[in-house]
Amino acid sequence: RTVAVVLAGGTGTRVGLGIPKQLLKIAGKPILEHTVAVFESAPEIDDIIVLMAPGFLDEARQIVDKAGFRKVSQVIEGGDTRNATTRLALAAIGPDDCNILFHDAVRPLLSPRIVRECVNALWTHSAVDVAIPSADTIIQVDEDDCITDIPVRSRLRRGQTPQAFRSGTIRAAYEVAGEDPEFSATDDCGVVLRYLPEVPIKVIEGSDENIKVTHPVDVHLADKLFQLAAAQAPGLGDDRAYTEELSGRTVVVFGGSEGIGA
Ligand code: CTP
Repeated sequence: RTVAVVLAGGTGTRVGLGIPKQLLKIAGKPILEHTVAVFESAPEIDDIIVLMAPGFLDEARQIVDKAGFRKVSQVIEGGDTRNATTRLALAAIGPDDCNILFHDAVRPLLSPRIVRECVNALWTHSAVDVAIPSADTIIQVDEDDCITDIPVRSRLRRGQTPQAFRSGTIRAAYEVAGEDPEFSATDDCGVVLRYLPEVPIKVIEGSDENIKVTHPVDVHLADKLFQLAAAQAPGLGDDRAYTEELSGRTVVVFGGSEGIGA
């Protein structure tokens, strides 16, 4: 059994619109609906659990009911932090052995290819992350905003979600973490890396479109990406490249090596 956990427990303070950003509509539907729809139609996924920001359970349930998602078995409250929300998901799933994919509700442009590759990677690894290379140079700074290090870019990746685990591994990691009074993390692979350092975490390639709606500009970007997908790229979901006419030249917009053609 493979369970998709949709983490929607946050309130989106950085977008700053007064409602959780996962309820904002882009391309005519709430972000949460787009995200759950990816798992609903993924053949690898058997069960979906949504953890929603406290106070907005009714809204989340309405979205699920109206869309007719049949794989969603539970819509429950999230916790104070993302990791607290993960813990509540683990409790809701119960002790059975299964595969679990944790995904940010605010990454609605997740592709079926990534879901498939995460689940396949769980045949050989008990922890899987999704990441993309960084186009920007990443610098490390101190408290005074002075550079302390510039790590080699070719070895850096930008982490996305889903993060996928065999249930025993993620449960064990959170159990050890529960004994650490200094516990702090921002994602779930970080919990495995820190508390079960012997477990290799396989990284599979994410995609540039799998953006996390975080700042106001991302709402417009995501909306545009959906419009482009609907209008011109039936294959967007599989990360296929497509071309667009721009100033009389053909431009490869997504996927593959970006470039200008004839
Ligand atoms: N999340 C969660 N439970 C929390 C906090 C965050 O399930 N207590 C989820 C968010 O709903 C989101 C994902 O984790 O889908 C990524 O978090 P982030 O982008 O930081 O979302 P928010 O916490 O909502 O945003 P902000 O940090 O701007 O308040």
